[in-house]
Amino acid sequence: MGRKFVVGGNWKMNGDKNQINEIVNNLKKGPLDENVEVIIGVPAVYLAYVKSIVPDSIAVAAQNCWKVPKGAFTGEISPAMLKDVGINWVILGHSERRSIFGEKDELVAEKVAHALESGLKVIACIGETLEEREAGKTEEVVFRQTKALLPAIGDKWANVVLAYEPVWAIGTGKTASPQQAQEVHSSLRNWLSTNASPDVANAVRIQYGGSVTAANCKELAACSDIDGFLVGGASLKPEFVDIINATN
Ligand code: G3H
Repeated sequence: MGRKFVVGGNWKMNGDKNQINEIVNNLKKGPLDENVEVIIGVPAVYLAYVKSIVPDSIAVAAQNCWKVPKGAFTGEISPAMLKDVGINWVILGHSERRSIFGEKDELVAEKVAHALESGLKVIACIGETLEEREAGKTEEVVFRQTKALLPAIGDKWANVVLAYEPVWAIGTGKTASPQQAQEVHSSLRNWLSTNASPDVANAVRIQYGGSVTAANCKELAACSDIDGFLVGGASLKPEFVDIINATN
């Protein structure tokens, strides 16, 4: 069976109720390709609100969570709390969490492990910086970040989507070319075949993220190892519908 195309929108720390209503109305109007899984990553404070106004066909994701169920962790939210308000997805390891909030591979792995154990599905983000790419270290970095996730994921690969997001392409307007993205996706899949299993490599969906727009999504979506997108800026705009429908 083929891999179902999966498009995530990561709103990051953007939006207010008015803008959220507009975005959701736009998604409701669609029309959205029914064969595409859609997940919107919402600021924590709006999760329950968004969940209450989106159709069930659109999943809602938190953009972060902590690594234990409850306790003295001021400012954090747990997977159990997310589940309690009907949220089934979380984005973890985003490069902004890694670079601004200092999250290392080990912490990301702990969060992924606990989120999966708690029954959440995870979009796990990986990707190299410009410096790393220019030093020829793209694969080394992406493989290292993924290797840290292997024990955390265990046999729960069916609940994981990987998002390859080259940091230099995020919010910069500089998208990776389809060739650049396909190259990394394909070598990551090969690496997974050896280091996880051929079945995992074949089944896991790998999204591309980094300045995806309505204008460039079709070419990227045509690449054989690109199974969807994680969209930042454009997920706040009406063109998100076109990105969801990129494979049409
Ligand atoms: O999670 C989404 C990525 O950071 C991409 O953001 O589409 O604004 O470049 P962007």
